[in-house]
Amino acid sequence: MSGFVGVFDSGVGGISVLRSLVAELPHEEFHYFGDSANAPYGEKTEARVLELSQDIVERFVADGAKAIVIACNTATSAAAPTLRRIYPDLPIIGIEPALKPATEAPGHGRILVMATDITLRLDKYQELAATYGRDCEVISVPCPGLAGRIERGDLASADLREMIRGYVGSFAGTVGSVVLGCTHYPFVRRQIAEVLGGDVRFYDGGAGTARQLRHRLGECGLLADEVHAGSVSFASSEDTPDELALYREFFEMEL
Ligand code: SIN
Repeated sequence: MSGFVGVFDSGVGGISVLRSLVAELPHEEFHYFGDSANAPYGEKTEARVLELSQDIVERFVADGAKAIVIACNTATSAAAPTLRRIYPDLPIIGIEPALKPATEAPGHGRILVMATDITLRLDKYQELAATYGRDCEVISVPCPGLAGRIERGDLASADLREMIRGYVGSFAGTVGSVVLGCTHYPFVRRQIAEVLGGDVRFYDGGAGTARQLRHRLGECGLLADEVHAGSVSFASSEDTPDELALYREFFEMEL
């Protein structure tokens, strides 16, 4: 089936999800849009995040998208239900914090969930926490500013490490698992692991989102033919050569 999958995020974060999508569905055509001019979404109102997300999806639909992936936890929480009501026939898959696999893993220990304040506050996460966090010690850690800092690149710098230490340093040596509930955070998994020390397991929603997309495309008869080569293209609201070069750098980054 021809047609592309539109994937969007507030900026570079969703590229961590895009990597999982391409690995799971190598024959699909993916169009990635990062709204870097408006990043980070986690520091906007829910109404504004909805408005921005709706504009992006409207453009994808006008261009002929066959499915949408919301590769941003904040936008999933603030916009997915409304977008699904507006486009009932369009598969819209939204990433969510990977609390289920983290809580179901044997010996998970104390679980930290790092995300934006909006993600942690809204229904999606509250429902996940009520369902899967009942019998475990789950600690939610809002990390304002972290996505915006990652957006600027230079991930090995000392200021970024200090910022991470400020959010999770007090949990060093006391947690078994970390749920990365913002799509920007997988790009600093190593830095978070260094601050926490010990043997910490990490979970993000990328692989689950990719499996969900495969399932929905299959169900709707929309999977690309396997003779199709598959492709990825990048666009940004911050449409400069430097920004698009940063997107490619994140897409190819060794994690
Ligand atoms: C943000 O743009 O502030 C965070 C994106 C996310 O929640 O995945």
